[in-house]
Amino acid sequence: LDNGLALTPPMGWLTWERFRCITDCKAYPQECISEALIKRTADIMVKEGYQAAGYNYIAIDDCWLERERDANNRMVADRHRFPSGMKALADYVHERGLKFGIYQDYGTMTCAGYPGVLGYEEIDVKTFAEWDVDYIKLDGCYVDSTKMDTGYPAFGKLLNETGRPMLYSCSWPAYQDKPNYDSIERHCNLWRNWGDIDDSWTSVTSIMSWFANNQDELVKHAGPGHWNDPDMLIIGNFGLSLDQARVQMAVWSVLAAPLLMSVDLATIRPEFKEILLNKDIIEVDQDPLGKQGLRVWTGSNCEIWTRELFDGSYAIAFVNLREDGAPYTLSVRAHHMKIPNQTYKVKDLYKEEESRVFGAEDVFETRINPTGVRFYKFTKCVSHGRRIRANKNHC
Ligand code: DGJ
Repeated sequence: LDNGLALTPPMGWLTWERFRCITDCKAYPQECISEALIKRTADIMVKEGYQAAGYNYIAIDDCWLERERDANNRMVADRHRFPSGMKALADYVHERGLKFGIYQDYGTMTCAGYPGVLGYEEIDVKTFAEWDVDYIKLDGCYVDSTKMDTGYPAFGKLLNETGRPMLYSCSWPAYQDKPNYDSIERHCNLWRNWGDIDDSWTSVTSIMSWFANNQDELVKHAGPGHWNDPDMLIIGNFGLSLDQARVQMAVWSVLAAPLLMSVDLATIRPEFKEILLNKDIIEVDQDPLGKQGLRVWTGSNCEIWTRELFDGSYAIAFVNLREDGAPYTLSVRAHHMKIPNQTYKVKDLYKEEESRVFGAEDVFETRINPTGVRFYKFTKCVSHGRRIRANKNHC
C-alpha cells in the first residue's frame, strides 16, 4: 500500500500470542488485556532499549472492547480494563515517542466474539482517527471471505480519507484459499498469509515450511510499503529453547517479516532479550532493498535461507531441524547458498565465531546445534588495489 508507511517491515509489540484473551484482571493482574499492560510495556520499550532498536509500535489485539456499542453505535473500550479510554492511552504511548496500534475485525464479531466493524465501518474509522490510532490490524472472523476482496480495500479507503496516516494490517489472505495478492499488496501495508503462531517449535517450523513452499508466489509481493506477515515473534515465552528462538529471529529477518514481539517484557530473560535486540539481525530485517529471502536449499534435514541485501551482500541462515543429538556439520558451496562464486568476508550475526574469509570454490563448513541456526552476513571482498584499500570489506 502506497501510503508512505512501512517502507521497511513494521517493528513493535502486540498482545495476542502471549496474552491472548485474558480479561480477568483480578486473577491475572499482570496479564489481562488492559491499559496497565500497555503502559507497563510502553515504559519498558522506552527504558530498556527496544524503542532504540527500532520497535516503535505497541498494539492491542482482540478483547479490548465492551460487548455492546454505545447509544450512538460507537465502539467502547472495556470500562474496567481501559478506564481512561483509548484516546488517553494513545496519548500516553505518543508521549513516549511510540505509535499506537489497535485490533478490529471486518466481520460482525471479532474472533473472540466482541463487536466487529461490519455495518459500522465509517463510524469506526472515524473513531480510530479521533483516538489518534497509528496502526489497525483488521482480522477476518465472522464474515464471508469472498466479501473481503472488496471489503478490505473499502475499509482502507476510509482509513485513507481520514487524513491520518494509519498503517493497515490485513488478515484477508489468511482466510482465503487463492488470495489475490496483486490487490492485497496495493491495499495493505502488511498481511497475515496463514495460520496463527502458537508457543511451540512445531508452530514455528510449520510456518517456515508453509512460507518456503509458497515462496515463489509470496516474494513477488513483498517490498517497501507491503509485506508478508508470518505472524508474531514468540521469543522469550515458554515454548522455544534459546536455539529455537534464534532460528525464529534469523528466518523472520530473512523473510523481511514484520517484527512484532508478543512477550512479557517485564519478565523476559536476558538471553532472549538479547536475541530481540540483536542489531545486526534487525538490520537484515530492515534492509532498505526490501527483498524477501528464500529457502534456497534443503538436505540432511537442514535448510539454507538466503536474503540479498541492498549493498550486494547476503544474509544466510543455516537451520538444523535435526533432533538427533550432537550439533551437525554442514559442508556446502556457493551454489547451495545461491550466491555468486566470489570471495566473501563472513560475519557471524550471533557473534559466536570470528569472522572468516570464504573464497570462490571453497567449501563452507558450519556446525549447527540441533533445532538451531547459524546466521551469517556474506559481504563481497574488494581487491587489494591501491584505491579501494581503505574499504572495510577488503579481506
Ligand atoms: C485470529 C488472528 O489471526 C490472531 O492473530 C488474533 O488476532 C486472533 N484472531 C484474535 O482473536
